Amino acid sequence: MTGTATAEYTPPKALRLVGSAMDAYLSIFVSGRSAPLLSKSKPVRRSGFDFPVVIDRIERVAEDVAALTLSSPSGGQLPRWRPGSHVDVLLPSGAQRQYSLCGNPGDPFRYRIAVRRLPGGIASAEIHRDLEPGDRLSLRGPRNAFEYVAAPSYLFIGGGIGITPILPMVRAAALSGARWRLIYLGRSRASMPFIDELVAMNPDAVAVRPDDEYGTPDIAQLLDSAEPGAAVYVCGPTPVLDAANRHAFAANPTGSLHSERFSAAPVLDGREFDLTLARSGRTIRVAADEPALAAIRREVPAAVYSCQQGFCGTCKIAVLSGEVDHRGRALPDAERATHMLTCVSRAAGDSLTLDL
Ligand code: FES
Repeated sequence: MTGTATAEYTPPKALRLVGSAMDAYLSIFVSGRSAPLLSKSKPVRRSGFDFPVVIDRIERVAEDVAALTLSSPSGGQLPRWRPGSHVDVLLPSGAQRQYSLCGNPGDPFRYRIAVRRLPGGIASAEIHRDLEPGDRLSLRGPRNAFEYVAAPSYLFIGGGIGITPILPMVRAAALSGARWRLIYLGRSRASMPFIDELVAMNPDAVAVRPDDEYGTPDIAQLLDSAEPGAAVYVCGPTPVLDAANRHAFAANPTGSLHSERFSAAPVLDGREFDLTLARSGRTIRVAADEPALAAIRREVPAAVYSCQQGFCGTCKIAVLSGEVDHRGRALPDAERATHMLTCVSRAAGDSLTLDL
């Protein structure tokens, strides 16, 4: 190697100042003793991966409601989550359903979900009937479509099993010192899970209003109790959500409304059409106000689905003929010519043939 003598390079003053600032930054935020406190690592968001969990405990927390405590089979940490998150639960039968996480987001080792046994519900029946502590399940997520936002005050309205995403939000509000109020609706006290746990967070801030004691709730009146500018969170049956959507702005024009629906999305501007299931050759009529998935399940009760609102993709089926009126967000552009989400999408014309 031949050497070449060069004059020593002296950077301009501005560059030297930038270099000094960088050295100072690195010594404080990266290599300094307080670096771990000043620049905390951000947890990796895991979404879309299946991972195994084991059932630690199954508790009966209300009439027809079972709470499952889940942990990692290795005893390690589970993916982090925030209030409002849900997981997809993949059951041994192959059924897949979404359940809100209703435990403590500050506990990295355990999840809790609560499942109401629904009349005719295949997955909820399997969970109540067949699962036992020690059994393993597969989860996907957590995902969050019901974000808990920072606000000076909160009004939470939870109806029935719709209390599950609300519960961690109430805990977060209580811990943060924000002003909050919870109105907990349900059929009867016996049917409403977690009453004691919620009341213990602040007995003065929790109003338990079962229908058999207070009658059918007047949602517009309940919304009036929100402070100006409050974040209003509502989760429960469709009539409660619809009433909240109708009245929230008038009741609280400077606030915000956040809601999550547990049931199938209502069909808007639908019209009847025929659906032919190619493998059986059967043709079924889909009513104007009926999701195609509901019609399919009359013929094929085991047809898979989860969110029923067009965002998880579980109900996707190949379309063999006919034009689709695509609704929902889960179908990528590349699949729109060949598939449909049966929970929300419909026929653009008079009929569709599905690979089912
Ligand atoms: S069930 Fe989730 S997109 Fe249809």
